[in-house]
Amino acid sequence: MKNQRLQEILDAALLEISQASTVEEINNVRNTYFSKKSELMGMMSLIGTLPPEEKKTFGQEVGMVKGQIASAIDEKAKLLAEQELAKKLEAEKIDISLPGKNFAPGSKNPFHVIKDEMTDIFLGMGFEVADGPEIESDMFNFELLNIPKDHPARDMQDTFYIDENTLLRTHTSPVQARTMAAKKGQPIRIICPGKTYRRDDDDATHSHQFAQIEGLVIDRNINIGHLKATLELFAKKMFGEKREIRLRPSYFPFTEPSVEVDITCANCGGKGCNMCKGTGYIEILGGGMVHPNVLKMNGYDPEVYSGFAFGIGIERVAILRYGIDDIRKFYQNDVRFLHQFKKKI
Ligand code: PHE
Repeated sequence: MKNQRLQEILDAALLEISQASTVEEINNVRNTYFSKKSELMGMMSLIGTLPPEEKKTFGQEVGMVKGQIASAIDEKAKLLAEQELAKKLEAEKIDISLPGKNFAPGSKNPFHVIKDEMTDIFLGMGFEVADGPEIESDMFNFELLNIPKDHPARDMQDTFYIDENTLLRTHTSPVQARTMAAKKGQPIRIICPGKTYRRDDDDATHSHQFAQIEGLVIDRNINIGHLKATLELFAKKMFGEKREIRLRPSYFPFTEPSVEVDITCANCGGKGCNMCKGTGYIEILGGGMVHPNVLKMNGYDPEVYSGFAFGIGIERVAILRYGIDDIRKFYQNDVRFLHQFKKKI
């Protein structure tokens, strides 16, 4: 190279390029050599001012140096960009072969397991499922079930009142009256699983909220034998073929006669133990023949139609089936409790 200064600029540039170790540094080198104020660019603009004999050689040399520096910068910039990307990828690497987080599958609350099983048993006997509101009127919850305002039976079913005539239903029995109103004198065979409420102290066997399955059959010539056979079949399907039931006289204002139904204790098979308090039996439900007043009030002629009804506590059945010692466990959603029923589902 004829021009000594150009050689120096080229050497200096190549050295700086070789020393640049980041994309930012190589960009700085580029700015230094190619900005308008740089010496190299100054020499470029000098070319036009030179006499023709010098112009050619000098022009060629400046062009060559400029080209060499530019391509060396491009090459190094590309290399550094690749290196930086590789470093970034390495740092942000995700090991997709690592085992993922394990979400243990949940399990049905034993309450629902039992509710569904009970419902299935009655569906198998030809019952339909009916529904009714949990916020109920005094009319449906009491009056139409033959429980007038000052009836002492109301004491046992104190509940949460929204206003004087609106309350949280104390049993699923209002669905009896609602179904009779809907069926308008036609035969009925329904069950109604649902939530019920009472003013109760919450303890191991009581809860202010619990659930029942109501049953109601109305037709011509229905007698207490039908009630007994239905409940016996239910008990055997639910608790096993060996179970027997017994009917004890009881009292409900909306049935006459009324019965409490007990099943033989699973724990002792009827001999008497702690669980059945020595009696050999455990109470599971209340029922009876629909009271003629109830039939009449709800549009059925008691001379033509008769029927039976029953109400079964769902938690009570679940408690007996699984040997659960505290009703509150159904509502707490503690997975340590719930997972115990996984295998049984
Ligand atoms: N409703 C009653 C109760 O909750 C149970 C019952 C239902 C009794 C139907 C007779 C007929 O205690």
